[in-house]
Formats: sequence, structure tokens, C-alpha cells
Amino acid sequence: MKKTILITGGAGFIGSHVVRLFVNNYPDYKIVNLDKLTYAGNLTNLKDIENKPNYEFVKADIVDADAMNSLFEKYQFDGVIHLAAESHVDRSIANPMEFIFTNIVGTVNLLNAARAIWKDNSEGKRFYHISTDEVYGSLGETGFFTEETAYDPRSPYSSSKASSDHIVRAYYHTYKLPVVVSNCSNNYGQFQFPEKLLPLAINNIKNNKPIPVYGKGENIRDWLYVVDHVRAIDIIYHKGTIGETYNIGGSNEWYNISLIHKLCEIMDRKLNREPGTSAKLITFVKDRAGHDLRYAIDSSKLQKELGWKPSLKFEEGMEITIDWYLANEEWLNNVTSGAYQKYYDNQYINR
Ligand code: NAD
Ligand code: DAU
Repeated sequence: MKKTILITGGAGFIGSHVVRLFVNNYPDYKIVNLDKLTYAGNLTNLKDIENKPNYEFVKADIVDADAMNSLFEKYQFDGVIHLAAESHVDRSIANPMEFIFTNIVGTVNLLNAARAIWKDNSEGKRFYHISTDEVYGSLGETGFFTEETAYDPRSPYSSSKASSDHIVRAYYHTYKLPVVVSNCSNNYGQFQFPEKLLPLAINNIKNNKPIPVYGKGENIRDWLYVVDHVRAIDIIYHKGTIGETYNIGGSNEWYNISLIHKLCEIMDRKLNREPGTSAKLITFVKDRAGHDLRYAIDSSKLQKELGWKPSLKFEEGMEITIDWYLANEEWLNNVTSGAYQKYYDNQYINR
């Protein structure tokens, strides 16, 4: 093996796609997937690659500094792709502390552990921090987030990610740690946990349950197919300039309510229902506190400098995603049993 790469949060939604691409495309790399396996982590997401010789899983908590130091000492990682995080805005509103620990303290622990093993020679090493467009705050009707947009996070989740972004850059400036950062817009695709809008709505439509739309559904998000995000991660990890930040986005803005109507149309077709059947499930519910109005990413730096662009049209990505959720009923049933029901009741029923 030429290089040993640590991927954190590899049992989650985006992380599992990153692990899959790196294990399959880089047989010379040993890929170590570190994950605490919270409610969002699921090793069945990686069934197809778990027996590959260049893959290893380690169950650990990034908040545990001693564990991180020992792990880095043992494996002498050449690179880190850091995705482990608490990732759901609504959960951060209900319970911010978990976000402070994992997203901020956990990131600092990884930076310290990398710094310790790379202090004498950081040639060819790389610490890649995966972040979100939510750090930039909320846009009005016009404009886009660029890499120069001032940070203005407005939820406990986005502010914890913003803090970690700042600390990652501070380690570059202060200690010359070879870091690179990217900030991406909303992802959708296979293996996304059904607390997020699209898989939650797919699951509810399938089960003839109300589709909860916050406020009037007027908020806007820029949607990107997860595999296109992961292609960008591959390019940035290998070709991005140390110390730089790259914005990643789909140039694909949708009002939430229009997105849900589109989803309902496709679901009616796939489930052989009369057109208009699923849309009857749309239910407007109490808005999210501090709900950001609009996110939209300008990804021209990544496109011009590193040659990335989204490969899939949104309609194609939606077809693939919906087909996957409908074909993987067991996965959906497993992740929505037990603790999920309690979360769902607190978030949507007992408010
Ligand atoms: P996810 O919630 O699906 O997965 C997070 C993973 O991190 C899970 O496997 C979980 O078990 C693991 N984890 C959580 N706390 C941990 C801890 N203390 N120690 C070790 N592992 C822990 O999240 P996701 O949607 O795949 O997001 C992954 C990353 O990408 C996050 O950093 C998120 O901020 C960022 N991001 C997400 C999106 C999106 O649309 N989902 C967009 C841009 C950026
Ligand atoms: O922009 C990137 C971010 O996208 C990531 O950093 C986050 O990890 C990811 O969760 C996502 O954040 P959002 O808050 O935009 O995603 P979510 O799927 O929770 O919500 C999308 C939109 O849909 C948002 O405007 C809130 C709304 N919504 C969400 C849920 C769960 C509803 O109207 N009803 C719902 O039940």
C-alpha cells in the first residue's frame, strides 16, 4: 500500500460514498474508516466493499483525544478526509451540545493528532475538512455564496461547522498544517438518513403519511447529487491547493414546496398512483426556528481551477435516488425502527 488515508464519518451518508469511491478507485491506498456509529452511522451502507483488502473499519469517537492520538500514532496516516459530524439542523436546535463536542472539539482533536505525527515532515500529507454552505448564513432573493463571502452562521449546527472551519484554517496559518477545506450545498442520494427532507418525504409518501413542510415551503436550497459531491472531494483531495477553500454546489435551486411537488409527481408514477395522490399528503407545519431563507453556491473556482462540474441532471439523480429507496425497503425499515420513532414524534407530533 502506498498511502494510508483516514476517512472519518465513513458510515454516514456522504462518508459511505467517499469510502466506496476511494476503496474502489485507489487499490494502492489503505482506507481506514473511523466512525462512532451514532444513530446516523450504518455499516450496512458499506456492505459491498467491507471485505476489500484495502479497507478497514475502526469504531471510535473523535471527541476522545487519547483515542485519536493513539490511532494516528498506530497508522501514521498520510491523509485525512474529515466528514464525521452531527449534521442535522433540527437536532442541533433541540440539543446543541452534541454539535459543540463532535463538530468543534472532535475536529480539534483530529488536527492535534495529525500535527503530532506530521510535525517533522508534512511533505505530501493533507488534512481535508469537509464543510457546508450553511456557514455563510442566509441569502435573500439574489446573489451567491463565494469563497470570499463572510461567515454568518445562524444555527447551532452551522455555527459549530463554522467554528471548525476557522480552527482548521488557523492550524494552517499557525502551524503550517497542510489543510484544504470545501463547503458544499445540500446533497441528496442513496443512504441519506430519513430525518433530512427528501428521504423523509419519500418514506412518508410511501407509507401514506403527511409530508411535513416547514412554514410556507418558501425556503430555497441548491441540490447536488451525492456522487457529484464525492467526485469533487476526490479532485480536491488530490489536486486542491493547500490552504485553499473550494465551494461545491449544484447550480440547482428549488423552493422546498416546488421540490416536494416534483417528488410527489415522480412518486405517483413509480407507485402507480393517480396523479395528484401524493401531493394530498403535503402538510404545512410550524417553521424551523431561525430558518435560513436561501442557499446558493457559486462553484466557479472549483470548475475553473480543478475542472469539476456536476455530471448528473437533477431529474436523473432524483430517479436514481427514489428507485433506490423503493428497492431498499429493508434498509429504510431498519433505520426508522426504534429511536427514529421517538425522534419523529418529538419533532413532528408532540410540538
Ligand atoms: P451523516 O449524519 O449522515 O453522517 C455523519 C457520520 O459521522 C455518521 O456515520 C456518524 O456515526 C459519524 N459521527 C458522528 N459523530 C461522531 C463522533 N463523535 N465520532 C466519530 N464519528 C461520528 O452526515 P452527512 O450528511 O453524511 O454529512 C457528512 C459531512 O458532510 C458533515 O461534516 C456535514 O457537515 C457535511 N456536509 C453535509 C451536507 C449534506 O447535505 N448532507 C452538505 C455539505 C456538507
Ligand atoms: O446546505 C448543506 C446542508 O444541507 C448540510 O450542511 C446539512 O448537513 C444538511 O442537513 C442540509 O441542511 P438543511 O437544513 O438544508 O437540510 P434538511 O433536509 O434538514 O432541510 C432542507 C429544507 O427543507 C430546509 O429548508 C428545511 C426544510 N424541511 C426539512 C425537514 C426535515 C421541511 O420543510 N420539512 C422537514 O421535515
